[in-house]
Amino acid sequence: MKRSKISIIGAGNVGATCAHLLALKELGDIVLVDINEGIPQGKALDMAESTPVEAVDARITGTNGYEETKDSDIVVITAGVPRKPGMSRDDLLKINSNIVKDVSEKVKEHCPGAILIVVSNPLDAMVYVASQVSGFPKERVIGMAGVLDSTRFAHFIASELNVSAENVSAMVLGGHGDQMIPLARYANVAGIPLSHFLDEKRIEEIVQRARDGGAEIVGLLKTGSAYYAPGSSVVQMVEAIVKDKKRILPCAAYLDGEYGESGVFIGVPAKLGKSGMEEVIEIDLNDSEKEAFKKNVAHVRSLMEKIEL
Ligand code: APR
Repeated sequence: MKRSKISIIGAGNVGATCAHLLALKELGDIVLVDINEGIPQGKALDMAESTPVEAVDARITGTNGYEETKDSDIVVITAGVPRKPGMSRDDLLKINSNIVKDVSEKVKEHCPGAILIVVSNPLDAMVYVASQVSGFPKERVIGMAGVLDSTRFAHFIASELNVSAENVSAMVLGGHGDQMIPLARYANVAGIPLSHFLDEKRIEEIVQRARDGGAEIVGLLKTGSAYYAPGSSVVQMVEAIVKDKKRILPCAAYLDGEYGESGVFIGVPAKLGKSGMEEVIEIDLNDSEKEAFKKNVAHVRSLMEKIEL
């Protein structure tokens, strides 16, 4: 079987963590690209040297150009600036939209058939930039945020109840910002609704911690933002695509009438398989969730309006 080729643009914290996990899971050959000379080459070589001891096979290359990314099956865009304490993801809009624009132009030229997974923030707006600049169809442009927000929510539930992380299924929808929508109503532990274990007040506290999950890490690290959980989240999406798993994961997907919205990328449950984002799953939202979703969409649109392409 031919190995998948996965390129990661941005060999910083998130990009390098993704590359390492992809190699450990033998999901394909990996190309790390960064503007920083020596960094992608050094990290790629270091990871490659770990493959004998890990007993895995993956070709890992580091480069400052795009020749080596030619005809990648998947391109993960993590290039950009992370936030510092006190910053919101939206504060990165101007600087990161220029970076994502530049990267998307090069990806379009060298990897015209690739599926793009965008990670740079502010996420929903950056997916829009990548989509506009690449011109790729909606199936092939996806944003990673929902898996991350959901795994944070699930971790807080598992740790509160002292149950296996594997037992918890939880989903967060909407934009990747302070107003994201953790769907406590749909969260369950081994199929048992969360409301069986926790009262409304405690659930609301956990929901709020999940919403603030990114800022909590930024506040602790002080020099940048999270990368282990983001890396794992990207890898779950890549695995669903590479193995054609048809896995339903919350992703920033293009809405074309679903949820009453069009022309915007935002977090919804989507089916991921070999074609990329194969279907948006429309679930029933109650009135307050619908209202929150509308507000999230309006916020993402307000960011999109500020971007000059
Ligand atoms: N092309 C390629 N790489 C670039 C470019 C560019 N035009 N501009 C910046 N980079 C690289 C930087 O050199 C750096 O190595 O992107 C990398 C970013 O890495 P970090 O600074 O470690 O940031 P990281 O924590 O990985 O976050 C990257 O993902 O989660 C989001 O908000 C986060 O937008 C941020 C992005």
